[in-house]
Amino acid sequence: MTSVRRLAYIELEVSDLQAWRKFAQTVLAAQVVDGPGADTLLLRIDDRSFRIALRQGPRDDIVAIGLEADNRQGYEQIRAALKKAGHPASDASAAHTAARGVAELMTVTDPTGLALEFSYAAMARPQEPFHPPRAHSGFVTGEQGLGHVMVTVPNKAEAQAFYESVLGFRVSDYVVTNYNGRDASFVFLRCNGRHHTMAVGELPLPKRLAHFMLQCRDIDDVGRALDRVPASGLKQTRSLGRHINDKMISFYMETPSKVQVEYGHGGVEVQDEQTWAVSTYDVTSVWGHKHL
Ligand SMILES: [Fe+2]
Repeated sequence: MTSVRRLAYIELEVSDLQAWRKFAQTVLAAQVVDGPGADTLLLRIDDRSFRIALRQGPRDDIVAIGLEADNRQGYEQIRAALKKAGHPASDASAAHTAARGVAELMTVTDPTGLALEFSYAAMARPQEPFHPPRAHSGFVTGEQGLGHVMVTVPNKAEAQAFYESVLGFRVSDYVVTNYNGRDASFVFLRCNGRHHTMAVGELPLPKRLAHFMLQCRDIDDVGRALDRVPASGLKQTRSLGRHINDKMISFYMETPSKVQVEYGHGGVEVQDEQTWAVSTYDVTSVWGHKHL
């Protein structure tokens, strides 16, 4: 078992903070919190102090993936595993740790160049419950963490080896397919009951982040978001559909940073680690998810 328990948060560097504020509120139904500082917005989707940090900057891409342990023991196990594998983590500054609202924070760059952060004891603020800006039944987080990210990597085998062998992620399945004649194969990796917390593939996209996914408790909230896409001025990129592996019903759209968000409902949970059999699929979806 891994000591990496779940995806705690992500940070995106975005060129248009105000466009993100509007998008997050009107389409995602995320609660937007200002700061810290004029160049940062925090998005809440549950009782955590934040789940997505947006920092003003030119990259319009993911700049940090925050993974968490349950406690200090788990955190130290991650530190030891990274060191043993030749990827020693660096302790974050006090300011960085405070900004993340965690007890301790260490950082490492993974073999593919992604900035990873590890922590435990994240700030929870149930005294100020998640307050969506429109009626919304909330998001599936908790034990399953923020959601998932799909990232592009220069070498899928190298990335899989790191996440599987060093960080203890387990392969849920493989999708071997192509898109517009290009290899679009991905390996789906989990670190808790969520079918995948990370998916990695060698898709030649200009950004490291292909998409991040938020999972609604209620399918109607997916529909209500879908209804708001046309007025957002942003492009829907995949039609409503059901994924073949995690069974999620979702749609995709571009964010103000062009990287995509998947907004879904109903993903499967891996209940029994011992009996999960890894599959390979040659399509991404049972129905729908047409590229628009
Ligand atoms: Fe996804």
